[in-house]
Amino acid sequence: MTIPEICDKKKHHQKITMLTAYDYPIASMADEAGVDMVLVGDSLANVVLGLTSTKEVGMKEMLHHTKAVVRAVKKALIVGDMPFESYQLNLQAAVDNAKQFMDAGCHAVKLEWFTHCLATAQAMVKAGIPVMGHVGLTPQTALEMKVQGKDAPTAKKIIENAKILEDKGCFSLVLECIPKEVSVQITRQLKIPTIGIGAGVYCDGQVLVSYDVLGLVTRYQPKFSKKYVDLAPLIIEAFKQYKRDVEAGRFPDDSHSFHMPIPEVEKL
Ligand code: KIV
Repeated sequence: MTIPEICDKKKHHQKITMLTAYDYPIASMADEAGVDMVLVGDSLANVVLGLTSTKEVGMKEMLHHTKAVVRAVKKALIVGDMPFESYQLNLQAAVDNAKQFMDAGCHAVKLEWFTHCLATAQAMVKAGIPVMGHVGLTPQTALEMKVQGKDAPTAKKIIENAKILEDKGCFSLVLECIPKEVSVQITRQLKIPTIGIGAGVYCDGQVLVSYDVLGLVTRYQPKFSKKYVDLAPLIIEAFKQYKRDVEAGRFPDDSHSFHMPIPEVEKL
């Protein structure tokens, strides 16, 4: 999947699919399932590393997981999520850090809206790095994790920000936690595809956290996410059976053991 192909999907009214992945097995399965884009999200912090905020992961952790995803994905477009303080502090550092994602094998980077993000997005695009913007709820800087743009003035601001990010050269935009009445306006007014999470059905595409889709998180499940399979109880049951088998001497049985030829046993 290439960026022009992603953009063409909007032109042809075909929905775009994106899932997060942080490791080789899940990234391989998302790719095998045919999702268009895989996002190595900074949700890595909460979902995989047991941290409380996405602000707690940096370039080192993100690149480590990105490399595992890149090894797995053969078809999908890979987007690396720029972590907190990797692009907000200094323009040159922002471009250098984005380049590290590209060198690791990503096809694009994502950055969340913040006060100076326009100059940052523009500098990255100028350096030849495809950028996905992110407006609405932006967890790295949000004071409160709640739906954004519920009144006309704040909604207008989000629409305005989305348009400027398009002008600055972003190839796509994530719309997080905004009313669908707002996302429909953005989706209609922008030429680039909008990818929603908690932004309703009218976006050009959707993104979800893969661990939420799989029922692998025991934390609170946001209203917008959908559990397509509940794997956690199945995994816990498998681990319990393993423990019972080991404790009862049922595992490993002969079929899971190695054997020595009889003459060698006799010599031994
Ligand atoms: O890190 C992440 O999972 C994200 C999605 C919410 C888009 O940024």
